[in-house]
Amino acid sequence: MSTDNGFKTIIEPFKIKTVEPIQISTRKQREEWLKKARFNPFQLSSDQVIIDLLTDSGTSAMSAKQWSGISDGDEAYAGSRSWKRMESVIRDLTGFEHILPTHQGRAAERILYGTIGGAGKVFLSNTHFDTTRANIEYSGATAIDIPIEEALIPDRIHPFKGNLDTKKLVEQIGNQGAGSIGAVILTVTNNSGGGQPVSMQNARDVSRICREHGILFILDACRVAENSWFIRHREEGYSEKSYRDVAREMFSLADGAIMSAKKDALVNMGGFLALQDEDLAASCNNLLIITEGFTTYGGLSGRDMEAIATGLEEVFDPDYLKYRIRSTEYLGNKLIDMGVPVIQPIGGHAVYVDAKELYSHIPVEQFPGQALVCDLYTIGGVRAVEIGSVMFGKKDDDGNLIPAAMELVRLAIPRRVYTQSHIEYVVEVFEKVLAHKKHSTGYKIVKEPPFLRHFTAHFEPVSGG
Ligand code: F0G
Repeated sequence: MSTDNGFKTIIEPFKIKTVEPIQISTRKQREEWLKKARFNPFQLSSDQVIIDLLTDSGTSAMSAKQWSGISDGDEAYAGSRSWKRMESVIRDLTGFEHILPTHQGRAAERILYGTIGGAGKVFLSNTHFDTTRANIEYSGATAIDIPIEEALIPDRIHPFKGNLDTKKLVEQIGNQGAGSIGAVILTVTNNSGGGQPVSMQNARDVSRICREHGILFILDACRVAENSWFIRHREEGYSEKSYRDVAREMFSLADGAIMSAKKDALVNMGGFLALQDEDLAASCNNLLIITEGFTTYGGLSGRDMEAIATGLEEVFDPDYLKYRIRSTEYLGNKLIDMGVPVIQPIGGHAVYVDAKELYSHIPVEQFPGQALVCDLYTIGGVRAVEIGSVMFGKKDDDGNLIPAAMELVRLAIPRRVYTQSHIEYVVEVFEKVLAHKKHSTGYKIVKEPPFLRHFTAHFEPVSGG
């Protein structure tokens, strides 16, 4: 199990077999492209991007073993052998009886929260991811985030900053009444809260409180392997356990799980819903068949299911997880050394820059995070995502912004895709961002849709640009 070979350098534990060229652009080209994209990097085409840190979702490089499994995928409509394999790997990992394949995580969210949500229901989470919140709110229910207080202080060091505030959980149950709580959702790691881990103790406490009150406890497990790394290295009693066993223990505390396989299953597409309760699974299966596909493929091809089964095995490899977590930390530490304010400690899949602090001259109403993602792109062709008031801001009755809790920019690291020199380049781009920062201006939204506005909103620089 030990991966310590006595060397300081943590190498990428793989050889590169297939490559995809990166087009190197000029700053002038990027300025034009960003303007055409209405200053929204989601609207850029990927060949206009040099280093794409928009997301770690669906962007993994697959292994030779996954690719060979793809040729072996069984595309039968019913009872595909690839489904059997995926189902058995997931059942073995999660311990849940009913496994429903979906084309990605949000499809599983729509099915589950569409079934148990609705007007009058309340969902509580350490932090709902944007699609989770959107699916809950779309059902008519309310989503409330109750992370621990430390989670909202970017430079506060806490080993498990992803934890849910169990005191607030008990208060909310008291205020809302257990019967109106649709579910408690623990997102591991807590993506919108900085990719921060959740401790086993916290999951245990949440589980106990939910069981006492008869409330459904769901794990959003899309980064459960990364979370297991942190538990094994930070929580007492886990240093001798395998990462897989740590994950298994966490699943055993919940009543069900949703997983976007596009993260820790190391694939480009896929997801699942896993449930213990037979009646709930039966209701969800109805929606699955109507909207995703038959129960033995959901929205997936047989080949996708093969790749998911293999990815879920590979992700718990100790050498992989060590490289994964330590390389994210490498970028984070370089930025800290340069004086870039980031969420600390560094999370599992991404480094989160505190844009409110870095661009303190830009008011929150002018979206400092959006200003930073635009600068990263024009200066170095690095694409990142704002996780702040563009993504999570609300409006009061007069149309004024109710800002998000934090103004972050996420640098998400795709799995097994970039090498250390790509990361060194990103660090250099940040050096230029720091030198240029006083010239940065804020942005205003000139067009936006009602849900998930960050994907398609149009922006304009507030002055000059
Ligand atoms: N839950 C969490 C915690 C997520 O991070 C995501 C996706 C989902 C659910 C939805 O899964 O994309 O397969 O439908 N996160 C991506 C991201 C989009 O960039 O962090 P999906």
